[in-house]
Amino acid sequence: MTLTRTAIPTYRSDIYSTAAIIDPYPHYARLRALGPVVRLTRHRVYAIPRYAECKAILRDDKTFISGDGVGLNPIPNTLSRGTTLTSDGATHDARRKLVAHRLLPRALRAMADDIDRRAADIVDRAVAKGSVDGIDDLASALPLAIVPDLVGWPRDQRADLMAWGGATFDLLGPLNRRAARAIPDSARMLRFARRVVNNRAVLDGSLGHDLLLAADNGELSDADCASLMIDYIVPSLDTTISAIANAVHLLATHPEQFELLKSQPELLPNAVNEIIRYSSPLRAFTRKARHDIEIGGATVPGGARVLVIYASANRDELEWADPDAFDIRNDAGRQLGFGNGAHACAGQGLARLETQAMLRALIERVDRIELTATPVWALNNIIRRHSSLPVKLTPA
Ligand code: HEM
Repeated sequence: MTLTRTAIPTYRSDIYSTAAIIDPYPHYARLRALGPVVRLTRHRVYAIPRYAECKAILRDDKTFISGDGVGLNPIPNTLSRGTTLTSDGATHDARRKLVAHRLLPRALRAMADDIDRRAADIVDRAVAKGSVDGIDDLASALPLAIVPDLVGWPRDQRADLMAWGGATFDLLGPLNRRAARAIPDSARMLRFARRVVNNRAVLDGSLGHDLLLAADNGELSDADCASLMIDYIVPSLDTTISAIANAVHLLATHPEQFELLKSQPELLPNAVNEIIRYSSPLRAFTRKARHDIEIGGATVPGGARVLVIYASANRDELEWADPDAFDIRNDAGRQLGFGNGAHACAGQGLARLETQAMLRALIERVDRIELTATPVWALNNIIRRHSSLPVKLTPA
């Protein structure tokens, strides 16, 4: 193969600094303007900021592998071995198949009424209060009511789940102070999952129970079983909480869009795509290039890590007509917020169901959502959402 030797531009700013975590979009715009591949000198990685190359890399899982981890530092890349997220080829397919049936449309249809009922209760309670926190009272309540039961996490051991999950995401960023602080909680989660598996303490009939049966049949080791439980519990809480929280924030700050959704509820599925496009819950994950490879005319050396920035791809002006405008009528179905290709989010059906259920309950019961104070961004290397989102709900 002949490889073109286009010089790769460099970018020296820290895109994981506190200021950049709070407002990453100017950094992403500068990266996209520099080219399809940009060397981030601070993080020793090749950033992929544009849509076309992000999608192509996610779809080429033979060249861009996940088996050496998808984080930006070696600690999670070693700790997370054995998960669906961090396996390749036939091993990945086998791991994904173990529990995929639980998240396919038929299984989700059976959960839909329960999810709708719970969403309605959550919004009824919030409307009765009037002034609420969009994170605690709206965004967290539904995923916390659904996902731990689905995964089979012991009922009396859930107090730390949010902190442990957040830490596990934080650790997937560069080894900055935020990631270093996250190490103990992330390790606690792994140890606890191992104990749950050793004690066979998962809820009967749950996804975790399927995994234990696979372990008992010799299809999985106990250690892999614990990793796979984490594989489902971690990405299923904070991400969906982020999507619902970002929905509440965007609809509070774009009242005309909330009006539009109330008058045209058939826009709900697309509204979810547009929310994920505009405010992608997951910033970026990495892949390792198996060999020298040309990306957009530049050669990335074999063994190098590339950073697929979903959140930047979703605002790429080469792909979207008016990327910085939030409009639920945009054709946002091709957004990359759930990834793409072999590792595309296994739980996106559930995440869409939960987010739509919350939005439906809101448009049916609320006339206006207003911010009552300045929201505060949560500081996490991977997940983008607020930690506090004070809103007032005016009943319909
Ligand atoms: C709005 C909510 C969610 C977002 C934005 C999201 C985002 C993502 C993304 C971007 C990936 C791809 C990772 C990669 O490219 O390496 C992914 C993978 C994954 N997600 Fe989600 N996710 C969400 C909710 C969920 C839920 C609810 C579950 C489980 C019930 C889940 C389980 C998984 C799993 C198991 C993978 C790994 C798939 C694989 O490697 O084959 N996610 N998610």
